[in-house]
Amino acid sequence: MTTMTGPTPVTGSVGTAHTRVEGREKVTGAARYAGDIPYAELAHGWLVLSTIARGRIRSVEADPVLAMPGVLAVLHHGNAPRVNADYTGLLGRPDPTVAVFQHDRVPFAGWPVALVVAETSEQAREAADALVVRYDEEPHDVAFFAGHPGSYTPENGRAQPETSKGDIEAELAASAVVVDAEYTTPQEHHSALEPHAAMARWDSGRLEVVDSNQGSTWVAEELAKLFSLDPSSVRVRSEHVGGAFGSKGVRPHQVLAVMATTVLHRPVRVVLTRRQLFSLVGYRSPTAQRVRLGADADGRLRALDHEALSLTSKVYEFLEPSAAVGRVMYDADAHHTVNRVVALDVPTPTWMRAPGAAPGSFALECALDELAEKCGMDPIALRARNEPNAGPVSGAPFSSRNVLACFQEGARRFGWADRDPRPGLRREGRWLLGTGTAAATHPSGVAPSTASVTAECDGTFTVRITAADIGTGARTALTLIAAEALEVEPERVRVRIADSDFGPAMVAGGSMGTRSWAWAVTSAVRELRERLVPGGGIPPEGITARSNTTEAVGALPMLERHSFGAQFAEVAVDETTGEVRVRRMLGIFAAGRIVNPLTARSQLVGGMIWGLSMALHEEAVRDQASGALVGADLAGYHFAANADVPLVEADWVDDPDEEDPVGGIKGIGEVSIVGAAAAIANAVWHATGVRHRHLPIRPDRVLLAGAATA
Ligand code: MOS
Repeated sequence: MTTMTGPTPVTGSVGTAHTRVEGREKVTGAARYAGDIPYAELAHGWLVLSTIARGRIRSVEADPVLAMPGVLAVLHHGNAPRVNADYTGLLGRPDPTVAVFQHDRVPFAGWPVALVVAETSEQAREAADALVVRYDEEPHDVAFFAGHPGSYTPENGRAQPETSKGDIEAELAASAVVVDAEYTTPQEHHSALEPHAAMARWDSGRLEVVDSNQGSTWVAEELAKLFSLDPSSVRVRSEHVGGAFGSKGVRPHQVLAVMATTVLHRPVRVVLTRRQLFSLVGYRSPTAQRVRLGADADGRLRALDHEALSLTSKVYEFLEPSAAVGRVMYDADAHHTVNRVVALDVPTPTWMRAPGAAPGSFALECALDELAEKCGMDPIALRARNEPNAGPVSGAPFSSRNVLACFQEGARRFGWADRDPRPGLRREGRWLLGTGTAAATHPSGVAPSTASVTAECDGTFTVRITAADIGTGARTALTLIAAEALEVEPERVRVRIADSDFGPAMVAGGSMGTRSWAWAVTSAVRELRERLVPGGGIPPEGITARSNTTEAVGALPMLERHSFGAQFAEVAVDETTGEVRVRRMLGIFAAGRIVNPLTARSQLVGGMIWGLSMALHEEAVRDQASGALVGADLAGYHFAANADVPLVEADWVDDPDEEDPVGGIKGIGEVSIVGAAAAIANAVWHATGVRHRHLPIRPDRVLLAGAATA
């Protein structure tokens, strides 16, 4: 097990397992989510989505619907309030995906074309179902495949689409061993347990939005820009969030709630349905990837070439950076990575847990396994031989890189030493058995945040920060962090989050939340402690200190800062049905200082289960004729359920960073999905002797491929 690094914790503080501070509220149903909160005069909006994939809206036949019971309004492009069309989103360019009802064009199936507002949600739904919308349909292109003629490399921006050093072809030609393989991953969806919901109302000249999001200042700032409002006149809150995974940013439902409350002068709530999530809140693009590895006979990499193609919509360019994972993991004399996209008549994809790294690691870590096989090497030994001293592309040192410690500890606990590397040897009745491994990595960045801490006159402390607890346990983690910094028991600390009035802070995303917020909170505590006089009194309003980490973040040295891990899986493959069962999974991670072992383990196990789901089950299929998804609901979109999930163990090794101004806290939200699907695919090869390079590894694919040893 883990030993703590850093200062000795106060009992019950950082490093000690702590149940969620809001746990009782959640399990008793007292915790209210954005869709639950009652308001006087609340009206309900129900979205109507396009049924065609490309064309124009000819007419929205609102009159019959306006005569239906309870209906208050039908908003659409012909009557909705105008918004700032030059709206600039988080990435510094306009996002037409949320500038809805501004024109008659339909860019994809499932585009918002009308909002029916009624006294009750049932009335709104019935009227929305009855609304007739007529279209002028145009031909669409929704076909995604490797080598699509519309593929292009995006302009170099923050996402750095392409990196290159050395001569790939020359090094491949000089290599004793070469792997050249193509991998694909399908479109995948993060359909959070709690669907998106937002209530908007005007209150004493201020716009108030109660939402379910990953960052309330983010949503507030963007709504202010979109509606040309003074930022101080917009307040967004998001107390409890039932899952997000990258999907809960600025979405059409908040924008439409604001439009409707502006028109109707009463509070309006818009709740998305499960089916609507499939086109309105983003998803993970399918990928087509080619990995070429060239190595000396001893496994040392001479060439690493990773090309990845993903799709984007025609309204907004989103890049799934699958090829980026090799920029951190492995060096080679010649090293080339490129992320390309093709724009289709499909909804805009977005960040989904470990963007790029999740599908990218499937390709790269499977290719490494293929290289190990060709070199006659153990896959862990191959990775050890290629362990870089510095960032393969950046040349910057790693803040800490304990990936080999993860493999060593994982191999010991998994029983890797007993493994016969030859495939197809283990059998149990009709089941073929195999084991596989893969590396995991995810960036662990930090972003500017503000926080305040108040010493109350009753001896307690109140922390205020616009963090979001999207189910991760962030509120609890920040309670422990503040308690440690204050040197008090966590019971004396109250953490209030997710209110844009608390000031700007990093969103709950990119595995950057806890690290970014912890820095702001501990900075505010340091400031407060300087102002507290021993034995001095505290006035009734308390004493408040504030922090802003913008300068400190800017002054950080340039380091490769990542969480790492090693994934292990054992599978059983039924050679008569093609079914793959995962028998056990083990993930050992090096993820800095672990703040709350209880919720950290839960989050790591959750990511690994998602990796299992990605390996074997998840796949959204688009119908080429209609341009819409087939089975866009949780009956048609198959994902791992309890019966699919075996014993999953997650743990960590020490990963100290004495130099780190944030006490060595890294991100743990995403690293555990990375490599998990590859470990399973590698185990399926070990069981059957057949490489499966296309996810998910469905029974029909297993049967068609056969087993090399059958
Ligand atoms: Mo996440 S995909 O970093 O919200």
